[in-house]
Amino acid sequence: MRYAAVVLMKRNFRWKKSVTDMTMEIIKQYVQLTEAEMFTYFKGENTKQQLLLDAMEYSLRAGGKRIRPVLALEFCRLVGGKIECALPVAVAIEMTHTFSLIHDDLPCMDNDDIRRGKPSCHKAFDEATALLAGDALAVLPYELLARAAAKNGKDAQKIARVIVKLAECVGAYGMIGGQQIDTQFEGESMGGDALLKMYELKTSRLLQASCVCGCIMGGGSEEAINQADIYGRNLGLAFQIVDDILDITGDEKTLGKPIGSDAGNNKETYVSIYGVEAARKKAAELTDEAMKALKYFDDNEFLIILTEELLSRSK
Ligand code: IPE
Ligand code: IPE
Ligand code: MG
Ligand code: MG
Ligand code: MG
Repeated sequence: MRYAAVVLMKRNFRWKKSVTDMTMEIIKQYVQLTEAEMFTYFKGENTKQQLLLDAMEYSLRAGGKRIRPVLALEFCRLVGGKIECALPVAVAIEMTHTFSLIHDDLPCMDNDDIRRGKPSCHKAFDEATALLAGDALAVLPYELLARAAAKNGKDAQKIARVIVKLAECVGAYGMIGGQQIDTQFEGESMGGDALLKMYELKTSRLLQASCVCGCIMGGGSEEAINQADIYGRNLGLAFQIVDDILDITGDEKTLGKPIGSDAGNNKETYVSIYGVEAARKKAAELTDEAMKALKYFDDNEFLIILTEELLSRSK
């Protein structure tokens, strides 16, 4: 932690290290902090429901970019908070995201057999266990956040606000609602505008929750919270369009999930409506909008670089 604190707090992008090295180092430190906290839940005890716990841990350990915890911790820092204050939020959101991926891959949804470079949860285990592992990872975040509030009375008000925001962003009017629309409209056309509204729910909302909840924990102003929300919304839309592009142009090994899943499921995407070039242009425009919101924050170099890198990512 001491080393992490030095790297994370005393930023100096004029260091001798290249900007990319610096960015990667910051991400590595945030991921280490999040994972160390996240895996304390799994104690390796042999219980009757061990298979369920193993499936939850399997999907969490499979990796992924951990972009949501990185955003939560960085926004906390940006508004002047101590990084550790946002750790429960970082863990809660990565668990929530992992639940969404486990369910997204199920045969009744996208029916994808590879996730994060490994067999999807329902392939490594079985469908019922994957369904329940997703359920358990959907609920656990609220237990962990409530425990953090009970343990640290000083932050209890902030954590209560985080719980409301996260639940709103995840529920029927958030990510889960977006997944419903996505599934319901398979094989049909809803048109570009409605598609982007659906992307806002299924993808932006959790990214918004990451940025906003990080700000809340860091004690940010209402305007900082608002700008973090705008950033997350635009980043999320760009992120989903890039995800759609990679579903066509990506390399399965690098991406860690199947290529051609959207077409295979007859899904309308931004790319299927407008083509790859127009989709790239739209993702770049949305990234510019996200960047505008970042201007509100001082010391935003890391987020500017990260936002740019997410646009040109290959996984
Ligand atoms: C995948 O999210 C699902 C979408 C919202 C497009 P990520 O691309 O963040 O997945 P991981 O966490 O890196 O596996
Ligand atoms: C999923 O969108 C968004 C979620 C809320 C999980 P996708 O179905 O395109 O995500 P991937 O491509 O399977 O990761
Ligand atoms: Mg899906
Ligand atoms: Mg999918
Ligand atoms: Mg996809």
